[in-house]
Amino acid sequence: MILDGKKEASLLREKIKKEISEIKKKINKSPGLSVILIGDFAPSLIYVKNKEKNSKEVGINSQVIKYSKEVKESKVLEKIEELNNNNNVSGILVQLPLPAHISKEKIVNAIKPSKDVDGFHPINVGNLSSGYKAIVPCTPLGCLLLIKKVEKNLTGKHAVIIGRSNLNGKPMAQLLLKEDCTVLIVHSKTKDLKLECQKADILVVAVGVANLVKGDWVKKDSIIIDVGINKVADKIVGDVDFEQVKDKVRAITPVPGGVGPMTIACLLKNTLECFKAR
Ligand code: GUN
Repeated sequence: MILDGKKEASLLREKIKKEISEIKKKINKSPGLSVILIGDFAPSLIYVKNKEKNSKEVGINSQVIKYSKEVKESKVLEKIEELNNNNNVSGILVQLPLPAHISKEKIVNAIKPSKDVDGFHPINVGNLSSGYKAIVPCTPLGCLLLIKKVEKNLTGKHAVIIGRSNLNGKPMAQLLLKEDCTVLIVHSKTKDLKLECQKADILVVAVGVANLVKGDWVKKDSIIIDVGINKVADKIVGDVDFEQVKDKVRAITPVPGGVGPMTIACLLKNTLECFKAR
């Protein structure tokens, strides 16, 4: 089974669009998303453009605030404070990565937790890991929704996540733990990556190494979620060797068209949730 992220994301967007339109009819208000983009890192430009386009399509008032890569950290912090206090702004997102002179920690900490649509603020990270209500980072949330399209009950499944980033690996582990999986995070210093992956009923790969996971790394009938986006000779490929793996497993996400579209749809979902909570 090829897990069609494009289709699932489109269904989710339709649901969100409908809900926003119903809310608008009732109270004449819509969610607002402010995206801060610093510099001209090519992938960030593409991501932000897609976020803006998708937001508008579902009825979210989207605003992109652009700064040159030389902008002072204090100027960005002032803008975040202004957005924190603006009642028309439901969600704030600062596109990563940031230039070296700007502290990611300071920026992430400055965003009001209730408007942190990325779910990166330590309050949201802490709430998620404590099992409390939290805003969940968009990519792992999208991955979980795709996994649940294949299997509703994940109790007791052996889940292996390759990659320990704050963006993907760590929140993914928390979500799967909440689903009663037995969870293992493996990474670049893990002794035998292949051996650990072979035990996985669910394998989530988020490391940014093209075609890392080979056919003999995966368990028969497992679910494979590929978060990677890598450019190889002008072609976009994932972290999983799709051709080698696809016929061995129960379900696999393609790249492109798997996790990517779900990430943006989940950003819209988080923005709507923040708006409703206010
Ligand atoms: N850069 C790459 N992925 C993301 C994301 O999910 N959120 C933000 N803010 N920046 C990113």
